[in-house]
Amino acid sequence: MHAILILHGPNLNLLGLREPEIYGSQTLDEINALLSDLAAELGVSVHPRQSNSEGQLIELIHEARGWAAGIVCNAAGYTHTSVALRDAITAVNLPTVEVHLSNIYKREEFRQRSLIAPVCIGTISGFGAQSYLLGLRALVAHFDQR
Ligand code: DQA
Repeated sequence: MHAILILHGPNLNLLGLREPEIYGSQTLDEINALLSDLAAELGVSVHPRQSNSEGQLIELIHEARGWAAGIVCNAAGYTHTSVALRDAITAVNLPTVEVHLSNIYKREEFRQRSLIAPVCIGTISGFGAQSYLLGLRALVAHFDQR
């Protein structure tokens, strides 16, 4: 059974409270529960981790090399700034799907550039909590194609 790291970046621990008109009213725990249900249906296991710290997120990516078959990653604000996070994804060479709750391409200009996107299989952006579920489906479909 494929094990998948679900990586949630900074401020996503505040989902539900944080700008619900942009990010929706579901909490991170609720999103993780939906992912866990879908994982059972797809025959994979999901392992959600959240950190507000760039270094910690990088450590989690490095550790995933030892146990995960792939990553579903919402790098949140670090999407637009972190060369180090991008380098970590490249270094571990695990298939990664980038996800965003909001459509980053119809927001402020600084959000319209992702440093992570070029090292991911693909990006799903703008579908709220569904972005994560679609991302998980996309990653599993990618495994099945190999
Ligand atoms: C986000 C979009 C980012 O621009 C923002 O910094 C976030 C969340 C999203 O899921 O829509 O924190 O990644």
